[in-house]
Amino acid sequence: MNTTLFGLIVSTILGLLVVCLIAILVLKQRNTGRKLPGPAWVPLVGNRNELKNDPDMRISLRRLQNKYGDIYKLYLGPSPVIVVCGYDAIREIFIKRGIEFSDRPAAALGAIIFNGGKGITAVSGKTWKNQKKFILATLRNFGFGKSTLETKIHREVNLFLSEIGKRNQAPFHMISPIATSVGNVISHLVFGGHFSYEDARFKTMMDAFSSFLRFVSVGSPVIFWPILRFIPGDLFGIKSITRKVQVVKGFVNELIDEHLKKFDERNIEDFIDAFISEMKKVDNRRSRSIFTREYLVAIVMDLFLAGTETTSITFTWASFYLASRPDIQNRIFEEINEHVGTERLPSIHDKQNLVYTEAFIMEVLRISSIVVLSVAHAPVTDVCIRGYRIPKGIRILPDIHSVLSDPKVWGDPENFRPERYVNEEGKLIKPDEFIPFFTGKRNCLGESLAQMELFLFISALVQRFKLMPPEGETLDIKDVDKYSGGIHSPKPFYLRAIPRHV
Ligand code: HEM
Repeated sequence: MNTTLFGLIVSTILGLLVVCLIAILVLKQRNTGRKLPGPAWVPLVGNRNELKNDPDMRISLRRLQNKYGDIYKLYLGPSPVIVVCGYDAIREIFIKRGIEFSDRPAAALGAIIFNGGKGITAVSGKTWKNQKKFILATLRNFGFGKSTLETKIHREVNLFLSEIGKRNQAPFHMISPIATSVGNVISHLVFGGHFSYEDARFKTMMDAFSSFLRFVSVGSPVIFWPILRFIPGDLFGIKSITRKVQVVKGFVNELIDEHLKKFDERNIEDFIDAFISEMKKVDNRRSRSIFTREYLVAIVMDLFLAGTETTSITFTWASFYLASRPDIQNRIFEEINEHVGTERLPSIHDKQNLVYTEAFIMEVLRISSIVVLSVAHAPVTDVCIRGYRIPKGIRILPDIHSVLSDPKVWGDPENFRPERYVNEEGKLIKPDEFIPFFTGKRNCLGESLAQMELFLFISALVQRFKLMPPEGETLDIKDVDKYSGGIHSPKPFYLRAIPRHV
């Protein structure tokens, strides 16, 4: 070998070594960024008290954001959690780098009790992508977000209106009738049937879902210290919640058995049928398929959990704002009267004309901000954001409320003002910061359904009834608004529904 060739080989090897060294240093630099700001860890409890010190957890969250900035770290029990606030940081992380932050953290105790960490909400990676694709395509086939579903929703709207009529103008709580109706819309899609308003199984199921959501709220210590579940007795309610979840699973399994018995490949009528059809196509013993009975149970549970309480609580907030703001309610009624009349129910085709009604629904979604802290995300790999090193799998909580209540975005976020979404030409505007269903890769799978339900139920209710506080009383936001974790729902309040046409 001549000396020129030898020199060339040596310099190439050296060059490659230098490139590798630089690459290692760059990667190391990315992974050893600055330390995230946040309160110091307190042994045993972590920083749980930081969220419990104020009369309302939203005040604590704003206090922490003001002190530590838009991205900070907290310890809930022994586990670190990163909270991301404000639209800029949320856009940077969950939209611009959405794929990198699209995983869920390892299933927490709550998810394990609920559905073994399977289903759609708790899963990550390929399983999540494939399930989401299948679920959305299947639900779209059954009319999700389309006018074909309207007929089924209208059937529930009519039953709901007649339930409200049965109250005979006496004071009542809205949450119970609307939860049954909204649960029934999911029932149509999932198993092709619906429940009566008195059905005990349905009531048990709905009760289990709301108890579960309360249980997994961010303050529940057993979620972060799972060892506490072995304490004798049921101090943290874990045994009672496990029992309730088991009853619901038993019920879902009964529904699946009924579907398996009458299964006909040529007649796929609902989500369970469609899933069974996929199950039959794959040999579950040989492949690691996501089309197993376990997954089916978990997805059905997820769809009911994610789709019922959220929509019915938003509707309950809407009924509060209607009854407490007669000026706004009248304006909505006038709009419906002008464009739809009173002879038929409003349809989704009327949406384009019912701009103020739409703006009202948007303002309810914004101000009630029912999902204060979104479902936890996790980075799919070690990442670096604004110089901070963020390890793979860590829990990241998007603070949706910080965006929906940001004075820099809304000016007067504390005021209920539907006009903020209507421009000078009378057209509806949707600011980027309007994110009640969150945003990015992992946004709400049921947004179009929820929007459709809210529009059809709210417009029909105002068309037929005038909502009012009980005789001689007023409804004040201060009396119903408090947040201490989980879904932000109003404290129970009474209202009356007076028929507009007899
Ligand atoms: C007003 C009603 C609703 C609100 C405000 C709402 C809000 C949200 C939010 C904030 C998330 C978390 C997004 C994230 O991971 O960061 C979510 C996820 C989800 N929602 Fe909704 N939601 C509503 C109704 C529904 C309905 C009707 C369904 C039903 C079918 C549904 C199904 C889901 C599912 C399956 C997920 C998990 C998606 C995933 O992990 O990829 N939601 N929703």
